[in-house]
Amino acid sequence: MQKLIIKGKKELNGTIAISGSKNATLPILAASILTNHTKLTNVPLVKDIFTMLELLKFIGMKVNINNKKKYLDLKNPQKNINTLAPYKLVKTMRAGVLVLGPLLTRYKKAKVSLPGGCAIGTRPVDLHLFALKKLGANIKIKDGYIIAEAKKGLIGTKIKFPSISVGATENALLAASGAKGTTILSNCAIEPEILDLILFLKRQGSNIKIKGRKIIIIGNYKLDKRLKKLNHRVIFDRIEAGTYLVAGTLLSKKIIIKNVNPKVLKFETDLLKKMGAKIKNSKDSIFISKSNKLKSINISTKPYPGFPTDLQAQFMVLMTQANGVSKIKENIFENRYMHVPELKRMGAKIEIKNKSAYIFGPSKLTGAEVMATDLRASVSLVLAGLIAENRTIINRIYHLDRGYEFLEKKLKNCSAAIKRV
Ligand code: EPZ
Repeated sequence: MQKLIIKGKKELNGTIAISGSKNATLPILAASILTNHTKLTNVPLVKDIFTMLELLKFIGMKVNINNKKKYLDLKNPQKNINTLAPYKLVKTMRAGVLVLGPLLTRYKKAKVSLPGGCAIGTRPVDLHLFALKKLGANIKIKDGYIIAEAKKGLIGTKIKFPSISVGATENALLAASGAKGTTILSNCAIEPEILDLILFLKRQGSNIKIKGRKIIIIGNYKLDKRLKKLNHRVIFDRIEAGTYLVAGTLLSKKIIIKNVNPKVLKFETDLLKKMGAKIKNSKDSIFISKSNKLKSINISTKPYPGFPTDLQAQFMVLMTQANGVSKIKENIFENRYMHVPELKRMGAKIEIKNKSAYIFGPSKLTGAEVMATDLRASVSLVLAGLIAENRTIINRIYHLDRGYEFLEKKLKNCSAAIKRV
């Protein structure tokens, strides 16, 4: 099994080009079922994307990755489409459940494996099913599968989500974009990745308007007429960018984070400035340099435009170096502190009380052999390794490969001592 070895305490300097967003690409790949020919650029070639492509191939889509010209070509041949998403492909990546909405809206039926729980929480899909039922689907659960049918097609309606969910908003959008009539979704997630999906669906011919957390969709239900080729460039990965901004705040004289829209990262950069980082924005880049005296802060994870749960673990590492007590309240997932025991083994002083973590800083971190059970927890250990004394060995790096494109290469280009063995 591969490991990462990091020799810490090296100053980082250089430019990091941010990849396309994994969490925007995944629903857009599901949406490609709805169109006959899609060409995507800025797709991050990470494990989760390959898993979704496997699922699309299983369904019957033709997938071609053009490595030279860096685009992904997806064709729905419209013949021999399989409306099944099997357990083996959905269990490894929960976003597989996003094919439910498109299959149902285009083919009027779908059988999709229930994804099951995962390391960061139970993560049910009840809100996805709630929305699809409102759109007229008949849904039953049998043998671990969601079996959905809408013999006469889905019909637009008003749906108010009882709580905010990224995935449920996406599945509802995908389904409503092929439904007859108007759908009004309220209490929606409005993450930048969802806005990117909306842009894609608009290019497919749906009429979509957003008012705060309300999304109004007039679907383009004549799906078989969607013959023209659709080109789309996926937005940048704000979580990857946020991860490198934390690295820059800890260790850089000057790092340039490029291929980003600084406005999307305003919440994060404001927090980093508050902690003491020196930050300057240009149109598509952020310049960052460290502060030798970081201040403690309090954060609470919330749906966008609040602080993202996907950056919680990385900011926690930063807080171990701040002066005073910092506090994090994790409101999105019930089990997202798995990095804490590993950070403590490296010397961090952290206490967990219910949903909150108290981080007592600054503390000296020293290298250790560590491992984590999810993507963001794993990358927080990479950040900890970069600031720790001596050598850190990170196990189970397949978690990192699920979502960080060229992680070692990007860090090495900035002089980090990191290698994969
Ligand atoms: C998306 O997951 C992201 N995944 C996650 O990224 C991210 O952490 C999460 O949104 C929150 O921002 C992708 O985009 C592929 P949710 P998702 O539905 O859609 C509960 C990463 O590291 N809920 O917004 O699954 C749920 O249990 C990851 O890249 C229900 O109760 O998140 C959670 O507590 C991991 N019923 C909360 O809502 C449902 O039907 C928010 O989950 C759906 C969700």
